[in-house]
Amino acid sequence: MAKMAASMVEHGEDAFRTLFKFYRRKHPPPDLSNVIDFSKGIVGDKVLSTNLELTAVSDGEASRVGLRPVRDWRAFGLHGYPGFIFIANPFLQGSQPFWLRQCLKTYPQKPNVCNLDMHMSPEDTDDIWGKSANILRSPPCGKKEPKTLLEKLRWVTLGYHYNWNTKTYSPDHYTPFPADLQCLSSLIAAGAGFPGFHAEAGILNYYRSDSSLGIHVDESELDHTRPLLSFCFGQSAIFLLGSTRREDPPTAMYMHSGDVMVMSGQSRLLYHAVPRILQDLPHPHCGLGTTLSKGQVSPEGSLADEVSGEDWAVCSRYIQSSRVNMTVRQVLGPGQSFPEVRTRNDSDAGPTDGYGEGDRGGQKRRRSDSGETESSNT
Ligand code: OGA
Ligand code: MN
Repeated sequence: MAKMAASMVEHGEDAFRTLFKFYRRKHPPPDLSNVIDFSKGIVGDKVLSTNLELTAVSDGEASRVGLRPVRDWRAFGLHGYPGFIFIANPFLQGSQPFWLRQCLKTYPQKPNVCNLDMHMSPEDTDDIWGKSANILRSPPCGKKEPKTLLEKLRWVTLGYHYNWNTKTYSPDHYTPFPADLQCLSSLIAAGAGFPGFHAEAGILNYYRSDSSLGIHVDESELDHTRPLLSFCFGQSAIFLLGSTRREDPPTAMYMHSGDVMVMSGQSRLLYHAVPRILQDLPHPHCGLGTTLSKGQVSPEGSLADEVSGEDWAVCSRYIQSSRVNMTVRQVLGPGQSFPEVRTRNDSDAGPTDGYGEGDRGGQKRRRSDSGETESSNT
């Protein structure tokens, strides 16, 4: 197995794809000993510590969006990846459920757009949460039940709605970006050294335990000097961060619930992918699951108080087998506007179950031998 892993890191024809398939494999399970775990907080050959802007965000501003004071964030860099910042769960105890509830109950609502809109009527996708909650709250009855809408949700877009077919954003397809997520994003960006970040587009990805996200670069945004932020909740995943060339082997790392990634500078336009969701990885720091149990003391007026027991029952059931990822993007630089005509030269992909082409609603994708889907600009 060790020899297998060693041969995987050799450079060559699409070394990224080779490693993607290696980590996606279920049987036999891949050797995960090379996967970096930032939550362990160990700085070494590959993992560097990163300086944050300690005074850019006040403690009060941070706590209002459920974040710890910036001085308590554990932020890391990766050797060879300038501009990549990994913040190991900067959320206050008890605040992740609020953001997860937003992802499951609030953000899928209109006027935001989701994968179900592609092949269902507006009435049918009107109240995804309401139509799913009672079923998810009740204990499983043993026999196989049809999937709820919430379980069929694969992506939601916010702000400038990403067009999966043309791989562009358009001024003609914009709805207001959620103010709470805009606020969280600007504070994370400011703490990471990017003041003035303005969240304009979001892609939320909903992964089941067998989902993956193909190899891609996020380059549809018009200003690449602005960072891309990525938030994770629920089950852990393996994230692969490559270079600008698919022949270079990527670095594998865990993303646990609450972790935040900032892709900026030279790391803004690197190939990346999520080959694997890791079901039930024991992870003591995740801050989900027990946070709202009875008797848990949460800080006065904290976001923890915002999630009712009823809502949490649904959210906690959902994430027992799922992962939610929010990527937040600034599309335009200050003073920038959309050009009249745009060329199509970008690429993106979304999570897939490997079941078929349905979920991304016509998104052009390339299907490989092993069944993973991916899209690329090559
Ligand atoms: C994306 C993305 C990564 C993740 O949506 O562009 O890369 O962790 N998501 O789900
Ligand atoms: Mn991406």
